[in-house]
Amino acid sequence: MDFKIAVLAGDGIGPEISKQGVDVMSAVCAKFGHKVSYKEAICGAAAIDAVGDPFPEDTFQACMEADAVLFSAVGDPKFDNDPTAKVRPEQGLLAMRKKLGLFANIRPVETFDCLIHKSPLREDLVRGADFICIRELTGGMYFGEKYQDNDKAYDTNYYTRGEIERILKVGFEYARRRGRHLTVVDKANVLASSRLWRQVAQEMESSYPDVRTDYMYVDNAAMRMIQEPTFFDVMVTENTFGDILTDEGSCITGSMGLLPSASTGEHTPVFEPIHGSWPQAKGLNIANPLAQILSVAMLFEYFDCKEEGALIRKAVKASLDANVRTPEIQVEGGAKYGTKEVGAWIVDYINRA
Ligand code: IPM
Ligand code: MG
Repeated sequence: MDFKIAVLAGDGIGPEISKQGVDVMSAVCAKFGHKVSYKEAICGAAAIDAVGDPFPEDTFQACMEADAVLFSAVGDPKFDNDPTAKVRPEQGLLAMRKKLGLFANIRPVETFDCLIHKSPLREDLVRGADFICIRELTGGMYFGEKYQDNDKAYDTNYYTRGEIERILKVGFEYARRRGRHLTVVDKANVLASSRLWRQVAQEMESSYPDVRTDYMYVDNAAMRMIQEPTFFDVMVTENTFGDILTDEGSCITGSMGLLPSASTGEHTPVFEPIHGSWPQAKGLNIANPLAQILSVAMLFEYFDCKEEGALIRKAVKASLDANVRTPEIQVEGGAKYGTKEVGAWIVDYINRA
């Protein structure tokens, strides 16, 4: 293949982990005879500082012209505690999602045996947990009508049948390719939007007789994820519930720094770690690059380059097994590797494979 990649490194640790992702992408392309070219573009706080817009038109164009976007992280503390700020880095992320039509956010929750002891849950509960959360990403309260004055404020959880159908289809199809178990998460006992979700899902069930479909209220799902995370195979839910449940999911694996994601939809797909920009670690060479590197694996898999993805996953696992780890996951007394060193080790592994 000839990959054209838009690289959006963003803020905080973004540029450091982005570099490792790009190096891994290049190494894998060289190994498998793919061509690859990169176009860097600004977003987030860096873009606000440069041009006053967290997702400038040039960046949007770079994304539209690419086959895939390798995204890192946005966010800067100078905006966090200022509710009056007119423009925020996160708006860049939301604008990217909306403009690229990225309605399906795929967030795998998988455990690595060697990190299970880091989970806040008992090992016997979390061992073997392996599910995918499919989060609707361009609708709901994030984008519905909003209002705010000094006395009242609201956000509207607006969904159309078309928006619901297309994301449920992604859910059913993922379930079909995995363990054939789909859990539709909603709040149909209270919310009209959820009742439409449930109605549409029930109508679609008959087209997927091979998939066992169940329905769970979001509060119950939050509890079940802690009590029995192995219950889930594929979970599909609306934007806000998905935001909350995927943070919960990432932390039960013991390794938020290891989880990648893919966002797909109408235009160029985006691959990014699920963690944020960790501004306190900026420039310290301590951020874990593995979520970014695994996002590159998801990128290859999206283009049906299975062996390429598998090699990256193998390299990541080998680095963990060899204790080549960033400080937050290093075993007690073990040598601490930096962002660059972990990335370089993985590139070297790929070159030798
Ligand atoms: C996420 C993040 C974003 C979201 C923020 C940064 C706007 O939390 O990707 O989960 O709420 O969607
Ligand atoms: Mg979130």
